[in-house]
Amino acid sequence: MKEEYKIKLVSKEVLSPTCAVLTFYCPEIAETAVPGQFVNLSCHFFLKRPFGIMCVDKNEKTFSVGVRQVGKGTEQILEAQEGDTFTVLGPLGNGFPFDDVKKLLLVGGGTGIFPIYFAAEYAREKNIPCHVVNGYRCKNDAFLYDRFSCVCGQFDVTTDAGDLGVHGNVMAYLSSVPDEELTDTTVMVVGPGIMMRKVSEWAKAKGLTCYVSLEQRMACGIGACLVCVCKIKAEQEGKEFVHKRCCKDGPVFLAEEVIW
Ligand SMILES: Cc1cc2nc3c(=O)[nH]c(=O)nc-3n(C[C@H](O)[C@H](O)[C@H](O)COP(=O)(O)OP(=O)(O)OC[C@H]3O[C@@H](n4cnc5c(N)ncnc54)[C@H](O)[C@@H]3O)c2cc1C
Ligand code: FES
Repeated sequence: MKEEYKIKLVSKEVLSPTCAVLTFYCPEIAETAVPGQFVNLSCHFFLKRPFGIMCVDKNEKTFSVGVRQVGKGTEQILEAQEGDTFTVLGPLGNGFPFDDVKKLLLVGGGTGIFPIYFAAEYAREKNIPCHVVNGYRCKNDAFLYDRFSCVCGQFDVTTDAGDLGVHGNVMAYLSSVPDEELTDTTVMVVGPGIMMRKVSEWAKAKGLTCYVSLEQRMACGIGACLVCVCKIKAEQEGKEFVHKRCCKDGPVFLAEEVIW
C-alpha cells in the first residue's frame, strides 16, 4: 500500500488563467520519483486527481506538477495559494524505462508536455541525447517553451494555429524527419490519445521502440478499483488481449502492445 503524505504548496507559477505549475514540499516523492510516474492529489471532492510529475528538486525536496483546469477538481486545485495543504499519494505507476536508451525522441501534447519535461531533464542528467517535439494549440499556449529550450539538445514545436514552429500537429514535423536522424532512437510520448496513436504508428513504420503514457480516467490510483483498465495485447499468453490497470501496471506501456 502506498503511503499518503500531507504536503504544503510552496509555490505556484501561473502560466495562463487556466493553467499553473504547482510545487510541493515532499521529500519522499522528490527523492524517489522517476519520469512517467504520477501523483494522486487531493481536492475538495471525494476522489483525488492524477497528475504526471513534471520535475523534482532533490535539494529543495520538492516536486512539481502542471495543472490545466478542465472541471471542478482542477478548478479548486488551481485556486490554492502558497502555504495551503494537500494530501497526496505517490509516486504512482511504473515510469518510462531508460536503461537501454541511446538516443531519445520525446513527443508531448496537451498536459502531456509536463511529464515530458521530467523525461527531458532526466535524459540530460543521464547524458542521453534528447530531441523534444511538442505540439501546442498556439503560441500563447506554448508553456515551458524556454525551459525545454534549455534542457534538451534539440527542441521543436508545432502549433495548430501556425503562429509558432511548424503549422499543424506533431505529425507534420515528425513526417519530415530524415530516417538517418532516427537511428538508435527510442520514442516516448505523452498527450491526447489520438496523438499518441498516430506517433506510435509512425514509430512502428520506422522500426523504432515507442512508449506511451496512457491518461485514462482514474479513481483509486493504486490498482484497487479497476476504473482505469485498458486493453494490452497478450499473444504470448495465447490471448488477443488482457486488461491492465493504467495506474498500477502503467501508465507507461509499449506502444505496439496497446489496443487503441
Ligand atoms: C496518469 C495521468 C496523468 C495526468 N497528468 C496530468 C497533468 O500533468 N496535468 C493535467 O492538467 N492533467 C493531467 N491529467 C488529467 C487530470 O487528472 C484530469 O484533468 C483531472 O483529473 C480532471 O479533474 P476535474 O475534477 O477537474 O474534472 P472532472 O470534473 O473529473 O472532468 C472534467 C472533464 O475532464 C475529463 N477528464 C477527467 N479526467 C480525465 C483524464 N484522465 N483524461 C482525459 N479527460 C479527463 C472528463 O471526462 C470531463 O470531460 C492526468 C491524468 C492521468 C490519468
Ligand atoms: S484507478 Fe483504481 S485501479 Fe486504476
